[in-house]
Amino acid sequence: MTTAKFALEDTVPLPNSEVRMPRLGFGVYQIRGDACLQSCLAALRAGYRHIDSAQLYRNEAEVREAIRRFGLDRSQVFVTSKIRFPESTPDKTYRFCLKSVRRLGGEAEDAYVDLFLVHIPYRGFEERKVMWQALERLLEEKKARAIGVSNYSVEHIEEMKAYAKVWPPHVNQILLHPWNQQREVDVYCKKHGIVVQAFSPLVRAEKLDDPTLKVVAERYGKTPAQVLIRYSLQKGWVPLPKSAKEARIKENADVYDFEISSGDMDLLDSLDPTPHTTEQEE
Ligand SMILES: NC(=O)c1ccc[n+]([C@@H]2O[C@H](COP(=O)([O-])OP(=O)(O)OC[C@H]3O[C@@H](n4cnc5c(N)ncnc54)[C@H](OP(=O)(O)O)[C@@H]3O)[C@@H](O)[C@H]2O)c1
Repeated sequence: MTTAKFALEDTVPLPNSEVRMPRLGFGVYQIRGDACLQSCLAALRAGYRHIDSAQLYRNEAEVREAIRRFGLDRSQVFVTSKIRFPESTPDKTYRFCLKSVRRLGGEAEDAYVDLFLVHIPYRGFEERKVMWQALERLLEEKKARAIGVSNYSVEHIEEMKAYAKVWPPHVNQILLHPWNQQREVDVYCKKHGIVVQAFSPLVRAEKLDDPTLKVVAERYGKTPAQVLIRYSLQKGWVPLPKSAKEARIKENADVYDFEISSGDMDLLDSLDPTPHTTEQEE
């Protein structure tokens, strides 16, 4: 756990790269069309400068439009996409990714996304290899500033050594919250400098009434959602909370005026009973 205070403007370095990523991101899963546009505008007003989209979400164009309407230069917002399935050949897979680059970055020759991820380790070795090689080509051609993976286990990341020119991946985006701390892969990623992004950091609002979480939230005069995001930051993760409501979007970014004590971090840590992993156990 780090004891740094953090600020909304904080960024984290990516491994073997000049690129830095804002420490707090805004997730846009399951918001489409105008709802996505309005949510992104609300997030930009609240100070988020990092938006997590994906081909699967079918809202990349709205993310781009929100940045344009808000009046920020494309370079001032860090945007992510993810490829879900490979196409029949590496070249077609690469071209399919290029469509995302255009939706998020526009038609100009120098359009880019900040981060492109393999969405899930679908389906076998060959598919994972083809998707990664498509992302490596994007990186090489500066159409992606960084590339990474999502939902990857330690074994999947180790397996990449057999085909990756770029290793380690810059990022691994995984399901992370107090009840699901994925200690083995978290320790492994940190050891290799891989930035760990936390998806569903609010547990999709399913645990906001948890008694332990509520006690901790009351102690700091913050909401359970704010404690979950602060917890994520203090764990060294990059949380990606999603909301389609402006008040909650603001609330979720208002997490910089308190610090969860180490005792309360331990209490939240105890909500996931799986054993702690040490580096030696890897
Ligand atoms: N890589 C992957 O496989 C993967 C998988 C899942 C998610 N993700 C990414 O991670 C992002 C976040 O995950 P998620 O959308 O699954 O879940 P989440 O952020 O944990 O939770 C979102 C839910 O919490 C509610 N909520 C948000 N703020 C709240 C607050 N302050 N108080 C009460 N309720 C609140 C939202 O409702 P309202 O919208 O009504 O406010 C929504 O129902 C996604 O948008 C996506 O970008 C990635």
